[in-house]
Amino acid sequence: MNIILLGAPGAGKGTQAEKIEKTFGIPQISTGAILRAEREAGTELGNKAKTFMDAGDLVPDELIVAMAEKRISGNDCQKGFILDGFPRTSAQAEALGHMLAGMQKKLNAVINIKVNEDILVKRLLGRRQCLKCGDNFNVYFNAPKKENICDSCGSELNQRSDDNEETIRNRFDVYNNQTNTLIDYYKNKGNYKEVNGETGSIDEIFSSIKKILEESIG
Ligand code: AP5
Ligand code: MG
Repeated sequence: MNIILLGAPGAGKGTQAEKIEKTFGIPQISTGAILRAEREAGTELGNKAKTFMDAGDLVPDELIVAMAEKRISGNDCQKGFILDGFPRTSAQAEALGHMLAGMQKKLNAVINIKVNEDILVKRLLGRRQCLKCGDNFNVYFNAPKKENICDSCGSELNQRSDDNEETIRNRFDVYNNQTNTLIDYYKNKGNYKEVNGETGSIDEIFSSIKKILEESIG
């Protein structure tokens, strides 16, 4: 089962991808998370990506496409994968199409998680992650018991460097100018589905996604 999750910054792509991964046993591929790990490790790719990410701009297509192809070719992706944050431009979508055709794979579902921008700003500003155990919190929606301390392992929580108001605004502009166009692109290809990612709880939204995925695999 090969899936794309589309959605603006903060729409819940990462949150829902983790739940799909646990339920369906296929890996989440977050290009943002891979880039953050590359930065942390101080690799050439990580260093190149840093300036773009901190400004909320897209990392150049050729770097992303090579990185995504390497990851999708991994052994753990044979039964499927969840793309979270890729593709993000028409060029990336075209490259993905060629990649999958070459691997004799197809896309089973492209799910767009739709949320209003005002709500997204609050979600992004409130987001915190434990870098030690990976647990996620949100100051507004799922606060840790002790301020800035992980409930699970007691480590200090981290705020992403691009989760500040100025960068968030640019991330939305970039999304509207370069990524939104993928909705029409995938509508024309079929398998495009939308879920309301705004009003329900994380579990309720996951139920809608699960239903779509179960239908798509028949
Ligand atoms: P990336 O890491 O992909 O960031 P993004 O697209 O801006 O998306 P986010 O990770 O911020 O949001 P999300 O949708 O995963 O939301 P989440 O589930 O965390 O990319 C970062 C950067 O890397 C880019 O700006 C770019 O520079 C570069 N990059 C990455 N991919 C690239 C590509 N393909 N091409 C070029 N450059 C690329 O949820 C957010 C918060 O809301 C959390 O706190 C969560 O708990 C909370 N939440 C979620 N759902 C709900 C709910 N239903 N109710 C209440 N709270 C909720
Ligand atoms: Mg994410």
